[in-house]
Amino acid sequence: MSRAVVVVAAGSGTRLGIGTAKAFVPVAGSLMLARALEPLFTLALPTLVVVVAPADRLDECRQVVATAAGAAVPYTAVVPGGTDRHASVQAGLAALPDSVDVVLVHDAARCLTPASQFERVFDAVETSGDGVVPALPVVDTVKRVDGDVVRETVDRSALVGVQTPQGFPLAALRQAYAVSARSETDDAGVFQAAGRTVRSVPGDADAFKVTTRWDLGRAESIVRARNG
Ligand code: CTP
Ligand code: MG
Repeated sequence: MSRAVVVVAAGSGTRLGIGTAKAFVPVAGSLMLARALEPLFTLALPTLVVVVAPADRLDECRQVVATAAGAAVPYTAVVPGGTDRHASVQAGLAALPDSVDVVLVHDAARCLTPASQFERVFDAVETSGDGVVPALPVVDTVKRVDGDVVRETVDRSALVGVQTPQGFPLAALRQAYAVSARSETDDAGVFQAAGRTVRSVPGDADAFKVTTRWDLGRAESIVRARNG
């Protein structure tokens, strides 16, 4: 089984509001993209890595990838992203050789995702042949609302929040993207809309997405705590 990870890092980080592409924002002294790539070069099996970067920062991105890969000398590629995440994922999938069996699609913004989560998703895709998402239970009480009127409490035992990396058989994910409506908000949604099955495995609290300044502060405190 040949494995690959597509890391999408071409977003602008509007909600973070730092004025630079989010993947190039430092998190406790190391770029978000560098932190996101770190676990990929420690995985048990050889893994191709494709990074989808802002079109005007490809060289910078190549340097970050080379430093993160170090002596590992794996297959890596850096390709320009599109105007939305959907287009960026498609650019990443197009850059993969057809020999790849299983691909994981990962947000660079989930920069503290541990290697164990990548292993768990790869293993589950290979065992099931289905799409796989890492998921965590919803902890808040969830309400259905109509404007400011609260209608009902939703049974949260049947709900999960999903993270990345999300994993799929490559050929099936490419087919799903080829016919997908752009309204799907994640890769599993695209896969499922094409009639495929998606399963879940346990997620990890550290795989949260850095979206706002508050998230960035949380990521920095986690890194400091890890470094003792
Ligand atoms: N992404 C991408 N190409 C885009 C938009 C998003 O590769 N055109 C990537 C981001 O780099 C990020 C992931 O998709 O790793 C999740 O997107 P999000 O958290 O929304 O990041 P941004 O789009 O950069 O942030 P914002 O929506 O606040 O601008
Ligand atoms: Mg976005």
